[in-house]
Amino acid sequence: MRIIKATDYQELSHLAADFFIERVKENPEVTLGLATGGTPRGTYQRMAEDYYKNHTSYSRVSTFNLDEYVGLPADHPNSYHQFMKTHLFNKVDIPAKQRHLPNGVASDITSECLNYERLIEESGGIDVQLLGLGSNGHIGFNEPGTSFHARTHVVELAQSTREANARFFNGIDEVPREAITMGISTIMKSKEILLLVSGEEKAHALRQLLHGDVGEEFPASILTTHQNVTIIADQKALSDVPHG
Ligand code: GLP
Repeated sequence: MRIIKATDYQELSHLAADFFIERVKENPEVTLGLATGGTPRGTYQRMAEDYYKNHTSYSRVSTFNLDEYVGLPADHPNSYHQFMKTHLFNKVDIPAKQRHLPNGVASDITSECLNYERLIEESGGIDVQLLGLGSNGHIGFNEPGTSFHARTHVVELAQSTREANARFFNGIDEVPREAITMGISTIMKSKEILLLVSGEEKAHALRQLLHGDVGEEFPASILTTHQNVTIIADQKALSDVPHG
């Protein structure tokens, strides 16, 4: 694992955007795995600014998002479909047919999961997957205890995750209880992974990832066994890491 240290969130976002822009320039048909949450917002903003200024084209890029809440339609303000439109899709030129997120209101959720997995495979797999880190070690919405062999599936969200995400809703009661997420095995098949970690509230999780044991109780620990992972972390996130 390669660790890139950023001074603060702004620098982290800049470095992460440059990382993606470089991959898109190297391979205009790259398949990107995308994430939501507070952490990647600055990255997307930087990518949008670069698109505006330098016209880096995403017209042949395909994207697959990690997850979506069960029960929220694509046009719900808190759906991840909407998040992606607001923060990236409305600002760069990725054609709609090349953008993929799980459908949280599919009538048959099991088929939706299988179908999503099939679409990823048919696209040739994910070249670069962006990840954030949950304070409890979750990646995507793979909560502690999720099998490392899981593929795209439905999860029950941990109470701590619902509490953490309540800030995006009008209170915790509105936060869905379930989500569809790429599985750990889906994520691990990505050719390259970029993990972003920012802020003191992630310091403990980052320490555990870097210095703890690999096990399903801390899902992100599996990343230490992947061949090509880059972590960009800011000083606050590294504050609990020995020699961080
Ligand atoms: C969310 C998302 C994850 C995200 C993580 C951290 O629940 N499902 O994909 O990486 O939790 O979120 P944040 O960046 O807001 O701290």
